[in-house]
This record gives sequence, structure tokens and C-alpha cells, in this order.
Amino acid sequence: MPVVETIQAYLEAQRREVDRELDRILPPEDAYPLSIHRAMRYSVFAGGKRLRPILCLESGRLFGGDDRVLRRAGSALEMIHTYSLIHDDLPALDNDDLRRGKPTSHRQFGEATAILAGDALLTLAFETLTAFAADRDADAEHAQLRVVHELAHAIGTRSGMVAGQVVDLEVTAETTDPATLDYIHGAKTGSFICAAVRTGAILGGAAEADLDRITTYGEKIGLAFQIADDLLDVLGSKQSMGKAVGKDGRQQKATYPALHGVAQSQKIATRLVDDACETLQVYGARAQRLQELAHFLIERNH
Ligand code: IPE
Ligand code: IPE
Ligand code: MG
Ligand code: MG
Ligand code: MG
Repeated sequence: MPVVETIQAYLEAQRREVDRELDRILPPEDAYPLSIHRAMRYSVFAGGKRLRPILCLESGRLFGGDDRVLRRAGSALEMIHTYSLIHDDLPALDNDDLRRGKPTSHRQFGEATAILAGDALLTLAFETLTAFAADRDADAEHAQLRVVHELAHAIGTRSGMVAGQVVDLEVTAETTDPATLDYIHGAKTGSFICAAVRTGAILGGAAEADLDRITTYGEKIGLAFQIADDLLDVLGSKQSMGKAVGKDGRQQKATYPALHGVAQSQKIATRLVDDACETLQVYGARAQRLQELAHFLIERNH
């Protein structure tokens, strides 16, 4: 990889690879029943930065993982992520009309299809993660099972994504203290991002000490990512974000800027990313991509 390559060019190239894999795995639009396959593809290919697959890939590469295996797992991560966005946008949750620069799934296809498209992406992710490879050995099988177990936990109700979404819906900025806010952000967003980097590391065959470091990195960038998302709702534009802005304030969401203010939130996010990068110093230049990605997560404008 040429050293002059910018993070943007790198992200774009990785995104294309992930998209090719997703295109291979998702049922074609003309597969029966058409409506659900059209809706699944619509949301997955509406756009999206593919950050979770890319984090999984780079984490796996750090430990010598096989790109093919990592890309497949990364595609499953993106399906889970897209499911979470479709459901997050539903009228009963955040009630949003725009996602990835296009009408949300329920706006485009109706609520029933949107709910089922989310369900379908979630289940296809686990089908994908457990697909049999002819050449796999006992170690690979063990890693595969561990990944499935950890991911299911990370998006569940015990400090996982669903837990965070539930508490997010049950509180308002006025009724939330900083510890509860950290619980929400860690659960709804952080746990899955952390699981994405752990997935890469586990599939790459990382030792437990390496997994501990990757976990610290993942937890810190996961929280920083949601802080940045909160900040972009205040400071970003609908044009570049491809989703509504200013909605957290209108909906009285518990966010970092609402509880800590903009400047302090930026400071906390920067500190988290610096700490995350510091954790990977032991790997020297090999960890450069993961460190660049961490900085990108809070410097992005989309
Ligand atoms: C948005 O995630 C939802 C959150 C968890 C904050 P992304 O900002 O990664 O969304 P896409 O995938 O690029 O659309
Ligand atoms: C969503 O958080 C987190 C998910 C689990 C999808 P937000 O509700 O802040 O995400 P956006 O801003 O709608 O993308
Ligand atoms: Mg939400
Ligand atoms: Mg939302
Ligand atoms: Mg948000």
C-alpha cells in the first residue's frame, strides 16, 4: 500500500471491496419474494461508510488474518448495522425520513416491509457468519463459533445494542446523568464497534493479550464514535450526513453535547481516540491504519 495514499482513498478502496462481497451474498432483486430482497438491497446499497467492516478487516490484518474470511465477516457486520439503522429510523423509534441520503426504508416500502427487511438482514448476517468453508480446521471453527457468540451478545439486551436502544428511548436529556449516558452510548453503539474489531482479531488468530488491547481500543473508539455522531447532529449538515440534523435536540435525546456541551464533548472524544491509539503503540507501524481510522471517526463530516 503506497504511503502517500490518503485515508479517503484508502476508505474508498476498502468500501468497494466490502460492497462487492455484499453484492455477492445478498439475494438478487429478482429472487422471490421480490419485495423483501429489494428492500434489503435498497438500504444496504443506499450508501454508508462501511466503517465496521473496515475496522474488522484492519484488526484482523494486524494479526495476519485472511482477507477473504475477514471480508465475509465484515459483510455480516454491515448487514447487522443496516438492520439497526432501519429499525432505529422506524416511526416507533426515532421516526426519521432520510437515511444514507435516501428516504428511509419504511418511507420507501412501508413499515411492515421495513421491519421485515431489518429482521432479514440480521438473520442473513448469522447465516453468513456460519457458512461452511471446505478448508477450515478446528481452530477456524472455534473462532467462528466464538465470533457468533460474541456478536449476538454485543447486539443484545445485556449492555448490548438493543439494551442501549431501549434506554435511549426511555430517557430524555433532562432525566439523564452522565453515567446513564455512557451506558446508552456504550451499549447502543460502542459494544457493536468493539465487537467488530474483536471479530477481526479473533478470526485473525490473535492471542488473549492482543485481544485485550484490541478490546480497549474498540471500547474507546466506540464511545468516541457515538460522541462524534451526537456532535454532527449539532454541527453537521443534512447534505453531507445524508440524514436529518438537529433532531436529537428536538426529540430531547440524551446526547454528549446536551449533557456536556460541544467543546467538552470534543475534548472527551479526542482524549478517547488518543488513548485508543496509545493502546496500540506496542504494534508500531503495523497499527497505523487502525490509528488513522480512530482519528477519522471523530474528524469526519459524514
Ligand atoms: C450511524 O452509523 C449510526 C450510529 C451508530 C451512530 P454510521 O455513521 O456508521 O452510518 P453509515 O453506515 O455510514 O450510514
Ligand atoms: C443509533 O443512534 C444507534 C443504533 C444502534 C442504530 P442514533 O439514533 O443517534 O443514530 P442516527 O443518528 O439516527 O444515525
Ligand atoms: Mg436512535
Ligand atoms: Mg436515530
Ligand atoms: Mg445520532
